[in-house]
Amino acid sequence: MPRWVVPSLVLLATLALVPPALVVKARVHRSAQPRVHIVQDMDNQERFKPQQANAMFVDGRAMRRPVAGTVARGQLATDSHLHRGLVGEGYAEAFPMELSSELLHRGRERYEIYCAPCHGMTGRGDGTVARRADELQQGTWVPPASIHDEPASTREVGHLFNTITNGIRTMPAYGSQLAVEDRWAVVAYLKALQRSRRASPADVPADARGELR
Ligand code: HEC
Repeated sequence: MPRWVVPSLVLLATLALVPPALVVKARVHRSAQPRVHIVQDMDNQERFKPQQANAMFVDGRAMRRPVAGTVARGQLATDSHLHRGLVGEGYAEAFPMELSSELLHRGRERYEIYCAPCHGMTGRGDGTVARRADELQQGTWVPPASIHDEPASTREVGHLFNTITNGIRTMPAYGSQLAVEDRWAVVAYLKALQRSRRASPADVPADARGELR
């Protein structure tokens, strides 16, 4: 065996202890300095700090003003009744706009697109999605509520508006798909659907009552 083999092996064995020793040191040593950061990923990037100059813009400012008309989240000057369905602390009992047949027609159209797949065309909770889920019997499906039964049938219009905006329990939110006015239109249509199920012969105009069977 050549003479250099043993010293080399001893040296290698000693060097092999260095990485674990560094790991141990890193784990127990406390320091206010940041760790050595070899792979930067995107942790540190060039950027402009507040109030710095930037020659790229004509006015020389790095900080830009928001584009005209921008509204930051939570900064919308909201009409609480219109945007949240709230009056004071409670849910609104009245609509924030005039009811009209156009609003109802719009509401019907939006309802049939966004709600009927689950709640069904008449709101009984028997939409095609619900029926298919019943067929599959997977045991995970929460059936869509009937809008004609408690509690939905006695909810304030503001509560219904909030249900559409934010969802409720297992029902997803539709606030991002439906504009504020359209959500109110759907609420108006829900009310019309509910009313239609509680109609009595007295609701039929007197001259048409003869045609009832
Ligand atoms: C993906 C299926 C689905 C769609 C689409 C859907 N819902 Fe629902 N909805 C549900 C389910 C499920 C419940 C019952 C939630 C629960 O009890 O966990 C529910 C409950 C409700 C309730 C009763 C809430 C209460 O006060 O207890 C109302 C009102 C309602 N939905 C209205 C709507 C309207 C209006 C739309 C259309 C904008 C809509 N839903 C779209 C599934 C859906």
